[in-house]
Amino acid sequence: MRRVPIDLLHEGMVVGRSILNAEGQILLTQDTILTSKYIQRLSQLGFASIYIKDGLSNIDVPDIVSEKTRVYVTQTLKETSEYLKKRGKLNIRSVQKSVALLVDELLANRNVLFNLEDIRTYDGYLLGHSINVGILSIIIAISMGYDQLKLQEIGIGAVLHDIGKTLISTDILNKPGPLTPIEFNCVRKHSEFGFEILRTNQEISLLSAHVAFQHHERWDGTGYPRGLVADQITQHARIVAVADVFDALIADRQYRPGYPTNLALAIVKDGIGKHFDPLVVNHLIANVAAFPVGSIVLLNTGEIAVVTETHKDHPQKPVIRIIFDAKHRRLKQPRTIDLSTLSRFWIKETLTEPEINKLISNSPAESVG
Ligand SMILES: [Fe+2]
Repeated sequence: MRRVPIDLLHEGMVVGRSILNAEGQILLTQDTILTSKYIQRLSQLGFASIYIKDGLSNIDVPDIVSEKTRVYVTQTLKETSEYLKKRGKLNIRSVQKSVALLVDELLANRNVLFNLEDIRTYDGYLLGHSINVGILSIIIAISMGYDQLKLQEIGIGAVLHDIGKTLISTDILNKPGPLTPIEFNCVRKHSEFGFEILRTNQEISLLSAHVAFQHHERWDGTGYPRGLVADQITQHARIVAVADVFDALIADRQYRPGYPTNLALAIVKDGIGKHFDPLVVNHLIANVAAFPVGSIVLLNTGEIAVVTETHKDHPQKPVIRIIFDAKHRRLKQPRTIDLSTLSRFWIKETLTEPEINKLISNSPAESVG
């Protein structure tokens, strides 16, 4: 299973993972065979890529959150933000239940690396982003030893970190071109708006509310709204700041496709001590598969392989199956090697879909043994 951009899909490809719309309803289930109509519809709905199954990477990817929970949380958060817009009130009970479900599943799967990104439409970006930031923040917090109560607190803050955006005009939020200085200042207000919404609700911990307030603060004091430095920023907000940027990098946006996970991790790592708390970034790196299962990768030897398994102890060194030799001829008998035990092999880069297509078309299956 691997992630393929919409414009490179073709009829007959098999859906690798169910596709949800912005409301959390299933549009296409796993194993559906794509027709040109389906592809056209997905493109109209604003999907930039989906997961497909194929002969190269026919592997199931371990999902850290079940589809059932993802659907439930998506629907709940969608309803929460609509209720807030209509009635000016937050229905916190259903958010608490959603976060409790995420915390339970992530605790049960604490030995599984984060392997899969959520696939969203452009319209559904904010919602999908909020859920993924929730998942990533809880994963980091589990790794840092947070207890159940603190996990719930950070989860609430994380899934609602951008709730203040509900008070900002969608014309500004969805504006395709660059923002004017006035519009930019307006968008920046979302952290204060979010804090006000959460702070005034008796059932929400002040630490959760501070996540909304402080998630754009930066470790070196260059963030907003108050320019707080290092541990003046609550640890909850420092965690969510890392999850927020990392998820924005791996997501497809209207103006660019998502970064491969290893590159997104490198960018976040580059922000250590400037944008981010070093400890938090280290916990992110320790819990995310740098080369997710299903990725097609180029090795230092020139050979090409598919990632088949990831190790919690070695997030950068997965188990791989070599499928093309150094001359890029398809192997009749692929070789499986564990990069965590062999230091002479390492991954140079993740291949892009056009590069993979070129390989497949230049190299008929089963060319060398
Ligand atoms: Fe934000």
